[in-house]
Amino acid sequence: MSYTSTSHYKSVLITGVSGFLGSHLAESILVESSLGNIKEDYRVIGIDNFCTGLASNVTYLKQKFPKNFLFIEKDVIQPWDDVNSILTEAIKSEISHVFHFASPASPPHYQRLSLETLWVNTLGLSHALRFADDIGARVIFSSTSEVYGDPDVSPQPENYWGNVNSFGPRACYDEAKRFGEALIYSWNLRHQTKHGLVRIFNTYGPRMNPNDGRVIINFLVQALAGQDLTIYGDGRQTRSFCFVADLINGIKKYALTDITFPVNFGNDREFTVLELAEKVQAHFAKKQSQIVFLEKAKDDPAQRRPDLSLAKKLFPEWGPKVTLEEGLSKTAQWLQLNSR
Ligand SMILES: NC(=O)c1ccc[n+]([C@@H]2O[C@H](COP(=O)([O-])OP(=O)(O)OC[C@H]3O[C@@H](n4cnc5c(N)ncnc54)[C@H](O)[C@@H]3O)[C@@H](O)[C@H]2O)c1
Repeated sequence: MSYTSTSHYKSVLITGVSGFLGSHLAESILVESSLGNIKEDYRVIGIDNFCTGLASNVTYLKQKFPKNFLFIEKDVIQPWDDVNSILTEAIKSEISHVFHFASPASPPHYQRLSLETLWVNTLGLSHALRFADDIGARVIFSSTSEVYGDPDVSPQPENYWGNVNSFGPRACYDEAKRFGEALIYSWNLRHQTKHGLVRIFNTYGPRMNPNDGRVIINFLVQALAGQDLTIYGDGRQTRSFCFVADLINGIKKYALTDITFPVNFGNDREFTVLELAEKVQAHFAKKQSQIVFLEKAKDDPAQRRPDLSLAKKLFPEWGPKVTLEEGLSKTAQWLQLNSR
């Protein structure tokens, strides 16, 4: 399985930059570029409409990188003529990658914004592809482990086709991501391009929206506020949790290749949701938080764990390094500093 790769980014454009992953990706690329021997005019151009991301993530990037971070507020479902005219030809000619990370990502948000979720991963992605082709850049699409649905194999390798309900409350997300993957496949064939996609498994860390609704941030917010920890279902469903720095390292390696097929990134250590709740309860509960069980969410997958063999074969030096305990502490610390 061979591929060619380049050593570094030029400028990049990131949609969804005020979100959790987009803001970490932006910071990581900006830090790497500022350390490397790269000429001064590299930029990260970030786009977001703040529908789920935190404005404070953009403020943070603007303050930390006043010269090299440029922000455009925009709904990327709409045509990109304004992006084309805001960015000069000189800036555009330096962009090597377009990371299409804009999308509501947690069940409460994507169910609230179900049509927007369908469009941002399909129409929004097609705008990103067209923009990238015009300037000769490579698109990296943030797909998800949710393309595997409620899997009947575990761990899930890339060649597992999934078990997805196309007509239910999670379909707007799962099927939109599956369409996005199919779009990249067909686009590459038709246009002889080399766009790629990563399948991201549950990732957590600082700068997640405290109202995000995904399980780790929910438990930590509840524990730090001295509230009971709520589990949907009996807690026996399993998840694997990746700390954000590990995920971003993997995505950056993938992006610098010309690989067009999907690769899983995440952490393959598996926990039940009850085990996670007990860890959070033991280490972060402000007072005697209880664990309470609520009705299971419809179509909630029973197990979720990446098969990382392909990622480790392609990038032998990559692998998840941060333990759940370390990652939870870093996330809790950030929440405590930023939750008022
Ligand atoms: N965090 C994870 O565990 C995980 C797992 C699988 C896939 N992903 C994917 O990674 C990407 C980022 O996820 P995240 O966890 O950072 O979520 P997030 O909600 O924190 O970030 C998504 C960002 O996209 C922005 N956005 C959404 N629709 C937009 C639109 N139409 N125009 C402009 N901006 C828009 C939001 O405002 C937000 O800032 C998403 O595509 C998500 O599906 C994340």
